[in-house]
Amino acid sequence: MDKEKKEESSAIHPAVAPLSYLLGTWKGEGEGGYPTINSFRYGEELHFSHPASGKPVIAYSHKTWKLDSGQPMHSESGYWRPKPDGSLEVVIAQSTGLAEVLKGTYSAEDNVIKLHSQVVANASKVREISRVYKIVNGDLHYVVQMATNLTTLQPHLKAVLKKL
Ligand code: HEM
Repeated sequence: MDKEKKEESSAIHPAVAPLSYLLGTWKGEGEGGYPTINSFRYGEELHFSHPASGKPVIAYSHKTWKLDSGQPMHSESGYWRPKPDGSLEVVIAQSTGLAEVLKGTYSAEDNVIKLHSQVVANASKVREISRVYKIVNGDLHYVVQMATNLTTLQPHLKAVLKKL
């Protein structure tokens, strides 16, 4: 390992190390739907970074766009806080004004992260959100489900992204 790479990896907080495979930029396409809306496809770029603060935190952001026109769609950003015991808490602020606090687990063996909302704030319809992220053949796959005031927990988004 060259000196620069060694310094980079040694700067990763031990709590973040099991999730270091996320760090970087991912790009791909997704499909959205819900019983109450028409399904749609979208482009997405997702970014995970480990700020050089020495803290056990991963900064997260994503942006999405319409595949035909490139017009921006939903975006969100937040912080992922992994703990050495395999639990994880995440805060996310969405461009729609909705705020989420999620808790869950990660598995270092099969690279699966499961999150479920503890708090969904400033939402007119959304009551619950779950997010599952996993690595399959080196690609990042995720599924976001939501429950609204009218509908139980059901998929809203699924996407597959490649590391750039
Ligand atoms: C619709 C929530 C992420 C695109 C909706 C609705 C809700 C919602 C509550 C309305 C459903 C209804 O009327 O019954 C959320 C939440 C998200 C999320 C909680 C993240 C956790 C996204 C993303 C995109 C997106 C990333 C784009 C890539 C849409 C579209 C509609 C929609 C296109 C349909 C709008 C319409 O037909 O009026 N979403 N959304 N959403 N969402 Fe999301």
